[in-house]
Amino acid sequence: MRAPYHLLLAVASLAVQAVAEDVLFPHMRGLKYSEYDEVKKLGLTGLQMAHSGISEGKLTVPAHVCKDDEEWNGMTTADFAKYKAIIVPDCMCNTSLNTIKFLDDTKRVWSPAVTGNMVIIGTDPSFHAKWFNLPGAFAMMQDAISLVATGDRGTGMYFSLSCYYQSAAKPVAIEALSEIGNFQVRGNLSHPCLNNAHLVAQSKAMTALNDNIASNWNCSVHEAFSEYPRTGSSGFEALAIALNATGPGEQSFADGTSGIPYIIARGATPLGCGNNITEGLPFERHIQLKLDSGPNKHELHKLHVIRA
Ligand SMILES: *[C@@H]1O[C@H](CO)[C@@H](O)[C@H](O)[C@H]1NC(C)=O
Ligand SMILES: *[C@@H]1O[C@H](CO)[C@@H](O)[C@H](O)[C@H]1NC(C)=O
Ligand SMILES: *[C@@H]1O[C@H](CO)[C@@H](O)[C@H](O)[C@H]1NC(C)=O
Ligand SMILES: *[C@@H]1O[C@H](CO)[C@@H](O)[C@H](O)[C@H]1NC(C)=O
Ligand SMILES: *[C@@H]1O[C@H](CO)[C@@H](O)[C@H](O)[C@H]1NC(C)=O
Repeated sequence: MRAPYHLLLAVASLAVQAVAEDVLFPHMRGLKYSEYDEVKKLGLTGLQMAHSGISEGKLTVPAHVCKDDEEWNGMTTADFAKYKAIIVPDCMCNTSLNTIKFLDDTKRVWSPAVTGNMVIIGTDPSFHAKWFNLPGAFAMMQDAISLVATGDRGTGMYFSLSCYYQSAAKPVAIEALSEIGNFQVRGNLSHPCLNNAHLVAQSKAMTALNDNIASNWNCSVHEAFSEYPRTGSSGFEALAIALNATGPGEQSFADGTSGIPYIIARGATPLGCGNNITEGLPFERHIQLKLDSGPNKHELHKLHVIRA
């Protein structure tokens, strides 16, 4: 049977879009981390199709890996903005901030381009995927990459903090992100490890990760956030927390749990706050608060997604 004309048109326009919207990887010593494989596996456009109601066929969004540091350093804001998302992979639990010095050095150029969904991960999924084949590590990359590569607010960003800050006894600023906001993390969290992970937000783009497979990684959490921008249309939400962890960054969440965020996101919806329409009053109240605080395209889009 021939595909209906409108479907063909939609697929054709997606194909054009896909070519224009590669996923960008920095050079990072030229290594292909597990995030690269996940991008390939996802095909990403599967998600874009889901958003447009098209369920068949699969196009592949190419992943572009910078051939050297000079290529990244030579890019303009407009060059970065052409990409659907920038993926800064986990450099296999690397502990040297030199590894992300290129990000810090060029932040005034790439930061203005990153207006879309973001996920900042205080752990090392590539390491746990490669050496321990942990399902939760693959699921984490898959969900986070899906979230940042979808959405309609521009270039997204996936940024694994790897193990760069794991020895920081006190909160330190993530300098590479200072153009986006004040982000502070600490390590040296607990001995031997923080291993109880709990998801406190959701999105239609994230379906793979759950508490069970995010937990018990030896260590699940390497860096916990004590500070990050929370308000406004580009505020971040906690996506996953070290459950029951205490100290700087400790928060209570709408689903009744408490802990310290170790994965934060822009573009997800907090659990217990619009995730579950049958909650009735709290759900409506949340939406009302969002609207009262100044409706904008982002919040209205969220509202649409929640209701969908
Ligand atoms: C961590 O990254 C630095 C700088 O990129 C590199 O020199 C070092 O060899 C890396 N260490 C490991 C264990 O991979
Ligand atoms: C990390 O914590 C342990 C025990 O809580 C402490 O003995 C150690 O000195 C800390 N390390 C750093 C770098 O602060
Ligand atoms: C955690 O460490 C223990 C002891 O070294 C090991 O037996 C186990 O396989 C590790 N688990 C994971 C998920 O890495
Ligand atoms: C976290 O704390 C809650 C409330 O005290 C408790 O019911 C729960 O068992 C704790 N969970 C873990 C994994 O520590
Ligand atoms: C709504 O969320 C609550 C708490 O998370 C859960 O117990 C309940 O099963 C959910 N209901 C539906 C219909 O998903």
